Amino acid sequence: MRILILGGDGYLGWPTAMHFASRTNEVLVVDNYLRRLIARETSSEPLVDNPNLEERARIFAAATNYNISHAIGDCSDFRFMERIFREFQPETVIHYAEQPSAPYSMIGYDQARRTLDNNLSATFNVVWAVMSHSPGCHIIKLGTMGEYGTPDIDIEEGWLEVEHNGRKEKFLYPRQAGSLYHTTKVLDTDLLWFYVRTAGIRVTDLMQGPVYGLSTEGADLDDRLMPNFHYDDIFGTVINRFLVQAVAGVPLTVYGKGGQTRGYLNLKDTLQCVELAAAKSAKAGELRILNQFTETFTVNELADRVRRVGDELGLKVAIESVANPRKEAEEHYYNPAHSGLLDLGLKPHYLTDDVIADMLERIIPYRKSVDAEKIMPRVRWS
Ligand SMILES: NC(=O)c1ccc[n+]([C@@H]2O[C@H](COP(=O)([O-])OP(=O)(O)OC[C@H]3O[C@@H](n4cnc5c(N)ncnc54)[C@H](O)[C@@H]3O)[C@@H](O)[C@H]2O)c1
Repeated sequence: MRILILGGDGYLGWPTAMHFASRTNEVLVVDNYLRRLIARETSSEPLVDNPNLEERARIFAAATNYNISHAIGDCSDFRFMERIFREFQPETVIHYAEQPSAPYSMIGYDQARRTLDNNLSATFNVVWAVMSHSPGCHIIKLGTMGEYGTPDIDIEEGWLEVEHNGRKEKFLYPRQAGSLYHTTKVLDTDLLWFYVRTAGIRVTDLMQGPVYGLSTEGADLDDRLMPNFHYDDIFGTVINRFLVQAVAGVPLTVYGKGGQTRGYLNLKDTLQCVELAAAKSAKAGELRILNQFTETFTVNELADRVRRVGDELGLKVAIESVANPRKEAEEHYYNPAHSGLLDLGLKPHYLTDDVIADMLERIIPYRKSVDAEKIMPRVRWS
């Protein structure tokens, strides 16, 4: 299969590229290094300095004999996107190329504007590049479980049947995001749904929960192939952040009461999910929505587990509640469906004590690189 990966330099994009290339697919990765730029602008550099795409592809090819091609360019530039689609003719495009940080999108006007423009333009251009140059290409788009928010009813997988005045119809499940970043994902879904209805494109929109981990088949070949691993308040997702805090001897920062519940998944399962979605494409004129996570935890549960396993490794982990910088429910009902990917064949890697211990042990050698200044929340919602 010819697979185009947009945002292929990212935390998920690079491991995805190695995964598909190792299964003898033809892989082209596109990125404009926006993440690296924003990380520098906000002093949120990752734990380890990752080589650029050219270097990563060279190291990977030397280790495996599989090639990953790459192109540096901006997905919000339609002329660039046209050229990529016309020349590569992808059968599947995996679209990761967005500004993914909720705190960054809440800093102020410039950051909100950049997030809105970048994310919506990239998605709009993917749709138009497919319609204009690769009709039939399956779009796999990364959405987020954050699109649904935390409603006081069960969360369905993308759709909700509504009965009103004795009549019924199925609609997109109501969405109420908690940050501007998450709101761009809601708007992306609406754009995709519009073009599915009107142009008959085929789309899988993956409502993904926060991802954790740094080990994959490809990343384990060479330390230089590790995904970019952030532990700061801007880009670090909560489990990755807690692991680094535990190793660095910084108390785990629980925001507010810590009852916030989300659906999480291992990086290895992100790779499985996109592979399963690619293997069984959405149909022409179908917006297939799948909730992509394997288990739910409160923030307090995560902190307790990292502390327990960290203590067993002799790390002396403390937990500290800090004022919540976000506007969000700190205790709430949360019951999202997630059977679609299991039905497609997902075999989850759960967050066991062994998995936590393994991640901590992988981070310990980098302890001296941790900058504790990057950990405390620097962005408040208001
Ligand atoms: N990591 C998670 O826990 C998580 C959870 C839910 C959803 N997601 C979504 O998955 C996708 C990937 O997330 P990630 O954690 O790998 O983020 P990331 O920032 O590490 O990767 C995104 C990549 O896209 C690139 N990019 C952004 N805009 C671009 C543009 N206009 N042109 C070209 N490249 C561009 C960035 O430079 C970056 O390398 C994002 O859409 C994110 O919203 C991630």
